[in-house]
Formats: sequence, C-alpha cells, structure tokens
Amino acid sequence: MSDKRTVTITLDGTNKKSVIPLMSGTAGADVFDIRKVYGELGLFTFDPGYGATASCESKITYIDGDVGVLEYRGYPIEQLAEKSNFLEVCYLLLNGDLPNAEQGKDFEMGVMRHTMLHEQLRTFYNGFRRDAHPMAVMCGVVGALSAFYHDSLDIHDAESRRISAFRLIAKVPTIAAWAYKYSVGQPFVYPRNDLTYAENFLHMFHAVPAEEYKINPVLSKAMDLIMILHADHEQNASTSTVRLAGSTGANPFACIAAGIASLWGPAHGGANEAVLKMLTDIGHVRNIPDFLEDVKDRGNHAKLMGFGHRVYKNYDPRAKIIQKACHDVLRELGIKGDPLLDLAIELEKIALSDKYFIDRKLYPNVDFYSGIILKAMGFPTSMFTALFAVSRTVGWVAQWKEMIEDPDQRIGRPRQIYTGPATRPYVDTDKRG
Ligand code: SDX
Repeated sequence: MSDKRTVTITLDGTNKKSVIPLMSGTAGADVFDIRKVYGELGLFTFDPGYGATASCESKITYIDGDVGVLEYRGYPIEQLAEKSNFLEVCYLLLNGDLPNAEQGKDFEMGVMRHTMLHEQLRTFYNGFRRDAHPMAVMCGVVGALSAFYHDSLDIHDAESRRISAFRLIAKVPTIAAWAYKYSVGQPFVYPRNDLTYAENFLHMFHAVPAEEYKINPVLSKAMDLIMILHADHEQNASTSTVRLAGSTGANPFACIAAGIASLWGPAHGGANEAVLKMLTDIGHVRNIPDFLEDVKDRGNHAKLMGFGHRVYKNYDPRAKIIQKACHDVLRELGIKGDPLLDLAIELEKIALSDKYFIDRKLYPNVDFYSGIILKAMGFPTSMFTALFAVSRTVGWVAQWKEMIEDPDQRIGRPRQIYTGPATRPYVDTDKRG
C-alpha cells in the first residue's frame, strides 16, 4: 500500500520542506500521508467538508464517483442487487467475504434470534407524542439500547462487538416498525423468526392482530433490494459521525444513535422524504420549468432534491437499480401510472438536458426514486429516512468495527484555522460600549 513516490512541500521564505510519502490503495485516488507536515512545517491542512480528505483506510466499500461504480468488498452493487440478499450482504460487509451455506445459516440464525426488544423498551414509546418524527424515536430508542445491554458494551472485547453487531442489525427494524405502529395507534407486532429479514420487517410494519398478513413476494424482494442498496456507502456524513463517536470509545449503541441523527438531515438520508415533498409541491409536469428556474436562481435556496452527490459526478448506480424496481413494484401492485413516478421521470429528463445541471455534474442519487417505490409499498413519507437507517445500520456497524479493530486507531480530533479576535483583556460592564 505504501508507494515509493513522494510529494515535497517547501515553505516559501524558509528552508523548511516536508517530503510526504504517497500511499496507493487497491483502486481509486492515491493519498499523501500528511501526518508529519504539522511537525515539520507548522502547517495544518484546510479542507472544510472533507471533500479532498481520506479520513481512514478501509476495506469495506469502494465508490468511483466519476464513472458511477459502487462495490461492497469488491463485489459490484449491480451483481449483489441481482443475486444476493440483504443478510448475505450484511455478512459480507461485516466479515469481508460472502458466506458459505453453513456460515450464512449461522449468521441468519444469529440475527433472527435477536430481533425482539426488552419488554421495558416498549414503555419508551409512550414517552413520545404520537406525531413524533420516526427518526426522533429511532435516535432515542436505539441510544437507549445502551441501558439494556451492559454485557456487550466493552468495545475492546471481540465477543461483545460480535453480539452488539447482531443486536443492532436485528433490533433496529423492530424499533423502526414499532415507531410506525405507535404513530398510528396500532399494537406492536412482534418479530417472527420464520420469516426472512425483509419479510419480517414488512410483517411487523403492516400486520395487524385482526387478520393474517400475507407477504407479497414482489414487495419483500423489493424491500430486500432497497436494503442492499442502502447498506453502506464509504465515508458518508453519517458513517463519519459513527466513526468519530466510536473513536472516543463510546459504546456501539450510542454510536449508531449518533449515525441516525446525522442521517436525518435533508442533505443526506432525509433527502428521500424531501424528494416526495418536492414532487408533490411541483404537482404537474407543466410546473417543472418554473421549479427548475427557482432552483437555478439559488436565491431561495431551492434544491433539486434527490439530485447531486459529493462523490458521484455521474449517475448513482443505485438510482438506476431503484428506478427499474419502481416499475416492477408498480406493475405488481397494478398501479397503472403513478403520477409521481411519471413526474420524476420527466423531471429527470428535463434536468439532465439542462446546462445548469450538466455543468455541475448533477445526476439523480439513490434518494431520487427510493421515495416513490416506498410510497407505492405503503410506507408513509415520514418513515422513508427511518427505512434508510434500518438498511444503513449494518454499514455503520461494519465501519465502526473496522475502526475499533484498527491497531492504529486513535481519537478523531480535527484542528481549525482560527480567525476570531486576537488576545484581549476583560472589559468591566460599565466600560463596555
Ligand atoms: C445521500 O455521501 C454519501 O455517500 C451520501 C449517500 C449515502 O448513501 O450515504 O449517498 C446518501 O445523502 C445522497 C444525497 C442526498 N441529498 C440530496 O439529494 C439533497 C440534494 N443534493 C444536494 O444537497 C447536494 O448535491 C449534496 C448535499 C448531496 C452534495 O452537496 P455538495 O457536495 O456541496 O454539492 P457540490 O459541491 O457537488 O455542488 C456543486 C454545485 C453547487 O453550485 P455552485 O455553488 O457551483 O453554483 O451544484 C449545486 C451546488 O449549489 N448543487 C445543486 C444540487 N446539488 C448541488 N443545485 C441544485 N440542486 C441540487 N440538488
């Protein structure tokens, strides 16, 4: 991984210089290791938003934003979407390779045996208003898991990390489904270990005690696909939040709760909910030109939600896969033409031919179509980001585990450039302006 090449920085007006080693990975941009630059030159690097900064070494997910590539442990997302299933992808992200039949069975058993919540966690829901946003509930209840699992909080113990990973992957769907049930005043539905992960989630979400809930295989397949596509995505904002929280030694439940909070923002995981609101506000194809003029005028901070990405400067491969799944689900549900999907397709077509978006390399991202398929599957808009959190929990856990197991791991502590007031003496109240 270390490279023989170097980058040399010389500081004008001094005889100081720093010869910086380059590091090459399996794929993607090389990096120059700046860790000794401050000691040699007394300079920090400056990179607000970390757009040009590799915060860590990772073996989990690779993205090439210029050509629209996404791979989990080297496997292209298109192949995993077509051939794998979510629990197998969870095993892959956590353990580094696809499981054999026995490993897969053991892993599935391990997860499905931890889907229930401690009965006292039910009472936590009663403390929320019925109209609380599900992400507020998720932040609270996932964080509260730390108060129940004292036997697996030792982050330096491999077995504690393993059981915490199982508990988080298994319980977050139950917590999300119960957040929905609480919001509509329906009884909580307990998980069922005889169902697949995606079937179990649909069952807990949609079933009611009054009648049998029949799993629609097309919907459970679509749910499993959506979970695969959202499982991990390199060092995005919420994953970086989990890594930073984990670097202090905080327990995994607290770290994942921090990740959920970070994902909630409309610039990140909250975008799928914002896309649906945007499409509803646009209302009709005839309103698209005026809406896009608003976006381009920038004055009112309007954004084309579901478009653009810090890394993808080409089509997000996940968006392509979801758009196709949209058509399959709508066809299966007998929804002839979903006006929102028709509107989204027309909006995408117009935007992709508009100079403003072309010049800025703005393409649909994973959130542009996910809301449409989730709405067609009967999920309320308010649950869209919670579903993203359910899917991303495995990615957060895998990245947290990788960081904790890295022998070079240390607390994350960025620096700054200070541009505030210079040192000055205290001024008594009667002498202030
Ligand atoms: C996710 O990081 C990840 O990997 C995230 C994610 C994951 O799986 O974890 O992929 C999930 O969060 C997807 C992104 C969902 N968010 C949205 O769809 C919200 C809308 N998108 C924008 O807010 C924006 O594109 C971001 C936040 C996603 C990226 O912001 P950047 O990196 O600051 O955008 P940029 O620097 O590439 O922008 C370049 C230009 C700017 O204009 P100028 O200042 O050059 O004139 O494009 C403009 C931006 O203002 N721009 C947009 C736009 N996104 C960027 N203009 C209109 N609409 C947009 N959506």
